[in-house]
Amino acid sequence: MLNKPVVYKKLLGTAILAAVFTSCVTGQLGQNVSGQYRQGMVVCAYPDAAQAGLDALKKGGNAVDAAVAVHFALAVTHPQAGNIGGGGFMVYRSASGETNTLDFREKAPASARVDMYLDSSGNIKPDMSLYTHYASGVPGSVDGMYTAHKKYGKLKWADLVQPAVTLAENGFKMTKRLANDINRNRQEFIKLNPGKGYLVNAQDWKEGDVLVQADLGKTLELIRDKGRDGFYTGQTADLITAEVSDGKPIMTREDLRNYHSVWRKALVGNYKSYKVITMPPPSSGGVALLQLLKSVEKYPLHSWGFNKDSTVQVMVEAERRVYADRSKYLGDPDFFKVPVDSLLNAAYITKRMANFSWAAATPSTSIQPGTFVGYESDQTTHYSIVDREGNAVSITTTLNDTFGSHIFVKGAGFLLNNEMDDFSSKPGVPNMYGLVGGKANSIQPGKRMLSSMTPTILEKDGKLFMVVGTPGGATIITSVFQTILNVVEFDKSMQGAVSAKRFHHQWLPDQVDLEPEALDSTVVEKLSRKGYKFSKRGAIGRVDGILKTQWGYYEGGADPRGDDTKLGF
Ligand code: DON
Repeated sequence: MLNKPVVYKKLLGTAILAAVFTSCVTGQLGQNVSGQYRQGMVVCAYPDAAQAGLDALKKGGNAVDAAVAVHFALAVTHPQAGNIGGGGFMVYRSASGETNTLDFREKAPASARVDMYLDSSGNIKPDMSLYTHYASGVPGSVDGMYTAHKKYGKLKWADLVQPAVTLAENGFKMTKRLANDINRNRQEFIKLNPGKGYLVNAQDWKEGDVLVQADLGKTLELIRDKGRDGFYTGQTADLITAEVSDGKPIMTREDLRNYHSVWRKALVGNYKSYKVITMPPPSSGGVALLQLLKSVEKYPLHSWGFNKDSTVQVMVEAERRVYADRSKYLGDPDFFKVPVDSLLNAAYITKRMANFSWAAATPSTSIQPGTFVGYESDQTTHYSIVDREGNAVSITTTLNDTFGSHIFVKGAGFLLNNEMDDFSSKPGVPNMYGLVGGKANSIQPGKRMLSSMTPTILEKDGKLFMVVGTPGGATIITSVFQTILNVVEFDKSMQGAVSAKRFHHQWLPDQVDLEPEALDSTVVEKLSRKGYKFSKRGAIGRVDGILKTQWGYYEGGADPRGDDTKLGF
């Protein structure tokens, strides 16, 4: 009784202090001093596309609405990977915790054959799966956006596509990186699109030049007005089938009309107290990410520290084993029974890690894909979005190579993917990312090629924690793996985790790829003496992530390796 006034006074004091503190650190729109936001956030590969997403959120759109706006805006402003001629994956988590994934990966056309890239002696015909009309899978992006919007969208479809139409028809200012990327590919554009000037300028492009894409604008208008029919039927379909032919049709109207994206149950696992919600096959990304996290979970990474020799050693040994499994067991689940449960079985993972030695690197030649008891038989782009209610979307989308096949659909103004190279054209022969595969990922008509894309969402204590993903071919999985550990084990902020230097091992070739200055020279020295081989390379990945802090703010991480941009409100 006597104490009550004191308690009240204390509480009142705390409340006043809290209110003063909050108003000091919080701007009018809910941004605090450290660039964190309350109401929504978009992190993606190009500033104008991030703006299109933010505008959709501010108009009351949800994360899926913003994703549609970002996707089409990236198809205009980030032609290296943003696309309508490619495909991708979406991982979704609603504010109330419902999870879902959408597979809008490209499919092999009906004319595809298992040996279509082999000559009469059974050797791979160089570049046929990369820079020819045979390189493209049936695009999935437009159907994917349309399907996602139909299920979850709130704002009008046309209003979400319009910003992309405007960017294409009125033009937008190019960043230095975009101008340079296009200039570097000028000869390929000219060679593969004779007589057509798409993305080609009389002189080299420079920063600040305005890029107008009139034909792409017209195609986007059709998509805006007719939805998926604006792409898969009518004029756009005619232009695609005319382009993707070789005297005889390679991709037909039926291929286009029959394309449908697929809702797939999210792949869910745990790392310590975090729930990891990620993409199931036909991406290998989710399975591999969960295998990697489980492989290192029991080691004291936190006390060893970020990129210390023991930390790197255990991560590399896990990566070696997981990529070996990927080569044999992962493929399109509609065509091949992927043993997901066996690959994620705790006892199997413990057994896989049991034979590595602290004294010396395990040579990759001594590692084969595992066996289980009872087994039943430089470009992509990622965007992360959260809205006011707390719905989250994690999307990775691709044309495969930078600018895909470099072949435009003439008259429609967009680039075709070269995703067919993600199939295993010949068992054991590496694709453009050095990845090998076999039967699970062989070419079949209508089949989806295996992917490494790993759009992922993490929950902590039943609440949204992180939205993350990246481009980077084979390095996608290890980049997402490292970014998650950077936050949950090494206490980095979202931006710190994204900016941190990366390393990568993929079983074959047997080497650890290193970004410049990724590891201290002493760490490299110690591990080299144990037999690890290191190979320097340029940037690995472009991770874009959002973290929900314990104080309820969204904090973004936009990769400084690209033009990636974070915007919130
Ligand atoms: O789906 C895949 O795994 C590849 N097509 C991704 C390609 C990619 O990330 C290229 N980016 N740098």
